[in-house]
Amino acid sequence: MRYASITDRLADLGSGKWAVHIKAREMAARGLQVIELTIGEPDVPPDSALLAEANRAMHAGRTRYSNGRGESAVVKALTDKYAKRRAGVTERNILCFPGTQTALFAVMLGLVEAGDDVLVGDPYYATYEGVIAATGAGIVPVPLRPEHAFHLQTDDLEKAVTPQSRVLLLNTPHNPTGAVLSNEEIEAIGEVCKAHDLWIVCDEVYEELIFGKPFASPFDRPDLADRTIAVSSISKSHAAPGFRSGWAAGPVDFCDRLLAVSETMLFGVQPFIADMTAMAVSGSFDTSTGMRERYGRRAKEACDALNKFPHLNPVMPEAGMFMLIDVSATGLNGQQFATKLLDEKLVAVMPGTSFGDQAQNFIRVSLTVSDETLQEATTRMIELAGELASTREGRKWATK
Ligand SMILES: Cc1ncc(COP(=O)(O)O)c(C=O)c1O
Repeated sequence: MRYASITDRLADLGSGKWAVHIKAREMAARGLQVIELTIGEPDVPPDSALLAEANRAMHAGRTRYSNGRGESAVVKALTDKYAKRRAGVTERNILCFPGTQTALFAVMLGLVEAGDDVLVGDPYYATYEGVIAATGAGIVPVPLRPEHAFHLQTDDLEKAVTPQSRVLLLNTPHNPTGAVLSNEEIEAIGEVCKAHDLWIVCDEVYEELIFGKPFASPFDRPDLADRTIAVSSISKSHAAPGFRSGWAAGPVDFCDRLLAVSETMLFGVQPFIADMTAMAVSGSFDTSTGMRERYGRRAKEACDALNKFPHLNPVMPEAGMFMLIDVSATGLNGQQFATKLLDEKLVAVMPGTSFGDQAQNFIRVSLTVSDETLQEATTRMIELAGELASTREGRKWATK
């Protein structure tokens, strides 16, 4: 039978990236005690008031069809949220989606197609390649360099721009590096985008999980208002990824046009989930405060432990649920180290190659397990690095 080319474009993007994770799950199913640090899911449930609200709304009959833009209470809550960040935001700047992922998919579909290019900092969140490929557009990676703490540099962006470039897909706070862009950096990036008439799609799903510095976004800058679309959700901020509740905030014109795209694929977000999201966005809950404290502390402790040994070089994240570790001093790249770590020490991490070319020498470790589990995993990583180093030293000795 014949299939549309989208199925070919997306076919090979999934399995390779997740090979270590899939193998770890198979090993666990065989009864092996694998420490899984591959994916990051909040380590707490949503606040019980939010669960009660979803339950209340469901029982109150909020189980009917919604509309394409979103239920009025959640659209109002999101309007208030974004109006605090930039004056003049109205309901017409908001569209609701089932999660950031769907928002990204729809937004990209509304902005690019075959023949266009999308610029993305490399390393990048694993699904970006698919979201771009689905539209038929090309992905143009812009290197995010460890020597700049993985912060996007404007000269790298300038060099990467092609005549076909239409969009910069920005992610701050960033997964997998944990980098948080400053307002000055965003201003400079914005100038490049203005010069080349680029849209900025900014994935801000980790907005609430920054460890110290302030959050900054192109959405908040009036000079970028006509070219910026922010996407986010309650998945991380309110520990509610399974509710699949997110949104896009962008120019009125864009939202009006995308509404038709959204209505073609969705009948909006479920009303009872919309009610719960309205409560989440407008209320104040301490879920993210706790996650911020725990993930920041765990990252710091793991960095301190790893830094005592010469062969593993962690990057202290500025935000988020993950930490990158440079393993190149062991003589292996991230893929080889991750495979050995799983086979020999029963610890599953993501190889940096799952996130693009720039992170080849890195592994990504999730911070969403208990302190003790992360400490045990860190000890096993140090053991493996030590064994690799002594084998290498031994080999060098033998060949002298
Ligand atoms: C950078 C980034 N964007 C988007 C998502 C997906 O978020 P959502 O659950 O809102 O679809 C994730 C999930 O890990 C992520 O890390």
